[in-house]
Amino acid sequence: MSITAWRSKILHFNGDPAHSDEPGTIMVYDDGILVIEDGHILAVDTPEALADMTRGLNVQHLPDSLIVPGFVDAHVHYPQVDIIGGYGEHLLHWLDRYAFPAEIGLMNFKDRAKDTASFFLDELLRNGTTSALVFATTYAHTVDALFGKALKRNMRLISGKVMMDTHAPPELMDTAQSSYEDSKSLIGKWRGKGRLGYAVTPRFALTSSPEQLELAGRLLKENPDVLLHTHLCENQQEIARAGALFPEARDYLDVYKRAGLLTDRSVFAHCVHLSDDERNDLAKANAAIAFCPTSNLFLGSGLFDMSAAQQAGMTIGFGSDVGAGTSLSSFATMNEGYKVAQMRAQSLSPYDAFYMATLGGARALHIDKHVGNFTVGKEADFLVLDLAATPLMTRRLGKASTFEEMLFALMILGDDRAVRRTYVAGKLAHDRDA
Ligand code: GUN
Ligand code: ZN
Repeated sequence: MSITAWRSKILHFNGDPAHSDEPGTIMVYDDGILVIEDGHILAVDTPEALADMTRGLNVQHLPDSLIVPGFVDAHVHYPQVDIIGGYGEHLLHWLDRYAFPAEIGLMNFKDRAKDTASFFLDELLRNGTTSALVFATTYAHTVDALFGKALKRNMRLISGKVMMDTHAPPELMDTAQSSYEDSKSLIGKWRGKGRLGYAVTPRFALTSSPEQLELAGRLLKENPDVLLHTHLCENQQEIARAGALFPEARDYLDVYKRAGLLTDRSVFAHCVHLSDDERNDLAKANAAIAFCPTSNLFLGSGLFDMSAAQQAGMTIGFGSDVGAGTSLSSFATMNEGYKVAQMRAQSLSPYDAFYMATLGGARALHIDKHVGNFTVGKEADFLVLDLAATPLMTRRLGKASTFEEMLFALMILGDDRAVRRTYVAGKLAHDRDA
């Protein structure tokens, strides 16, 4: 039995601050202690309250730090780390010019996929992201590569083989049947291994035949524990094309709904241009949205309506959506998310943002019974953030008169330099100063 403890400022959430004023929704300790036993949360409270439990323990004291749960990236493409920052296109041309070639580049190269997966996961950890819902490619070996490397790092990570059997480069296309068979065998091989989970991953309506979407729905029915992960209503041209390809569908979401892909375990990336019908259907189904602000701004896709989604009661996580997104850092995502809200005359408070980056994301991915906050018994994925990571942060955060003001300045000024340490299931997985 191994017990370890950290003393620092601590922030975590027991509920969604956008929906609950109940005491305990936002838990802030100006001086707190987090106690871990065998990779799980044993206690979190003030030093006084934990005096008996921590007596005799070597408590690591970390002044100028803030401990938070590990960040959750609810939508990201690992093969696209190599084309992040591709100039000059909107979605559909960007896919042709940057994303598809990067994915084709892994076709016959298992070692290259493993190297990319390793690099990607190390970057996640360096940025404080301990869980993610990840697009691989159509090639099953790229899923094996990512899961293999994530298993080695003991990360709680979800991925799946991309299904695309039409309107795509021939090298990237599968068939409806092969995508079903490959997905099925990957589910059997990886689901539940270590901390891994599987997501059935049709890329989007434009690159799947009705038959393939039907078979994706069958995979969901046959495997009630997996997720559905796809894109929805990102870009106007994309929406128009979905309408032309599926004239019988009421709207874009209905393409997925008809195939049985709208469930309470579905995660839809973007949802920038939802109709009221679509938003209501998403909310009724208890589906989740991955809000990807750096991507939506970079590709000029549009401004996500966060207030409408919150008012509809939707579960919302943050996605980096790299490589269309411009950073793997949740700080960058929160920062740009705030600006997207500003452009819509809305406001993303630092508590809402940190909630979405932690427990909100975990709820979207259905991993919140394991991670997302510091409930006793959960797995200890957490970060030690450095509140004095740069001279400017030291100066600005030092001038904050409330915790909330400090947290907001951190979310605006923070980046990978502020992630001093990342712990995965209680074990040090990244040490900035090592
Ligand atoms: N829609 C379909 N595929 C993609 C992708 O790879 N990136 C983004 N941002 N949108 C998509
Ligand atoms: Zn995406």
